[in-house]
This record gives sequence, structure tokens and C-alpha cells, in this order.
Amino acid sequence: MTLQDKVAIITGSTAGIGGEIATIFSENGASVVVTSRTIEGAQNKLADIKKNGGDGLAISCNLESSSDMLALVESAMDTYGRLDILVNNAVSHQTLPSSPIQDLSYEKLAAGINTNLTNILALTSKAYPYLKIDGGNVINIGSAVINQHILGIPLYTIIKGAMSQMTKVLAYEWAPDVKVNQINPGFTRTAAPKEVGIPDAEVGAFFESFRQFHPLDRVGDPQDIASAAYYLVSDQAAWITGMEMNVDGGYSINGRSL
Ligand SMILES: NC(=O)c1ccc[n+]([C@@H]2O[C@H](COP(=O)([O-])OP(=O)(O)OC[C@H]3O[C@@H](n4cnc5c(N)ncnc54)[C@H](OP(=O)(O)O)[C@@H]3O)[C@@H](O)[C@H]2O)c1
Repeated sequence: MTLQDKVAIITGSTAGIGGEIATIFSENGASVVVTSRTIEGAQNKLADIKKNGGDGLAISCNLESSSDMLALVESAMDTYGRLDILVNNAVSHQTLPSSPIQDLSYEKLAAGINTNLTNILALTSKAYPYLKIDGGNVINIGSAVINQHILGIPLYTIIKGAMSQMTKVLAYEWAPDVKVNQINPGFTRTAAPKEVGIPDAEVGAFFESFRQFHPLDRVGDPQDIASAAYYLVSDQAAWITGMEMNVDGGYSINGRSL
């Protein structure tokens, strides 16, 4: 129970990577603030956590709404009176169209950046005064595509690259009070393909097509990412800040054969 008495906000934590992070933090004693675009989604996940003996709070919170994001910290503080961990996990695929950058209108670019960067920065800033009270942690969930770009998702990759700079800058500015680290997952088996419109029947083939880019010869499972997040907030990582951990089956060091 290494996270006993700690309070963690994990954005987008009903399923996928955020869902597994909420589970492992809860199994290790943290009270988890579970968020979803729907209150039902958050309540269902919290019910599972409680069934397994955990504790938490269910909040409906859409990354596309700045007021939702800013209210999140207040909800956690009103209930628990403390905040120790913030995991910036949620992404809004709807505001990150997979069009070439030159084809995106000013409004689309601004919506993608405001939603997936400004709102995350605003939430993180709001959390800072509470995180710093007792040596808190921020974990940003980036992506391995910042190390090896894939044609077709330019705005997503630019945003994740900016997040990586945010990790380094805040880690330095907020040291020694708050540690800020980032995990860059490789392709991980979640419902993300569904979010971007890939039909259920094609999801298996979609992931299979990406296996070849991972030297460890499989795509990831959400547990692979969650165990890294748990390590980074544990005492074992007490001297690690400003780090980007590629949890990607070797995707980032993948070369080419002659
Ligand atoms: N899966 C991958 O291959 C992969 C690879 C690299 C990086 N990542 C990154 O890992 C993170 C998690 O991805 P994932 O694949 O686990 O996603 P996912 O399976 O699609 O899970 C998304 C979670 O986020 C919530 N969510 C979706 N849209 C949201 C929004 N607009 N505002 C707030 N919450 C929202 C969902 O909750 P509801 O549906 O209940 O609202 C769900 O709990 C993202 O930052 C993603 O960029 C993923």
C-alpha cells in the first residue's frame, strides 16, 4: 500500500491506459478521482474500484471544456482536502483531425491546441499549489510517435511533442517541490481506434499491422503503461524528474534493415 493516503486525479480513466492507471493506483492505496465524458462512465469505473476495496470519486469531465478541467481540482480538494498526483492522460481525438496541417483551418488548429495543450496546462497549473504541499507528482501521457512520426497524424504528434517540452520545463521550474515525468507509449491495445472511427471488425487487423514496428514483437497492453506510471509516482523513483520514459516495445529505437 505504497500510495496509502495519497489522492490522484487521472483524466480519462474509465478505460484504456487511464483506466489501468486508476486501477493500479487504487490497488496500492490511493484514492482515485476517476473522470469520463459521462458521469455514468465514471460511476461505473468507480463501482469496479470500490468492489475491489478501493476508494475514489467519479467526475464527469471533458477535456474539450476548460471549465470542466478547472473544476476537477476543486472537486478533489472539496472531498479529500489534498492532492498528490495528477495524471494528464485524456486526449480529445475529435479535435485532432488526421488531415495534413496545411488543410486545417485556423479554427481547427486553435481547437486542437486549446483542448489538448492549453486545457492540460491550465489543469496542471491549478493543481500545482496543492501538489507542492507534500511533494506531488505529475505524469504526462505522451506518445512514442514523437520519436518516430507516422504520416497522417501531424497535429496529434505536434501536441504530444509540446507536452514533452511542458514536462521538461515544469520539472525544472517546479523542482524540488513537484516531480514531472512523461510516459511515451507505443501502440497500445485500447478503444482509441474506435474513437477515430475504425470499425470494430477492423480493430484486430489495425493493431496487428502495427506489431511489426515494435522490436519486442507485440503492441502494448494498458498494464504495460500503468506499471510504469506506478513506478514513477512511487518512492523508487524519488530522484527522477523531467524524464520521458518510452514504454513502447522498442518502437522508438526501431531502425531499418539494409
Ligand atoms: N492507445 C495507444 O496506442 C496510445 C499510444 C500512445 C499514446 N497514447 C495516449 O495514451 C492516452 C490514453 O489513450 P487510450 O488509448 O487509453 O485512450 P482510450 O482507450 O480511448 O481511453 C480514453 C479514456 O479517456 C476518456 N476520454 C476520451 N475522450 C475524452 C475527452 N474528450 N475528455 C476527457 N476524457 C476523455 C475516455 O472516457 P469516456 O469514453 O468514458 O469519456 C476513456 O476513459 C492518450 O493521451 C493517448 O494519446 C495512446
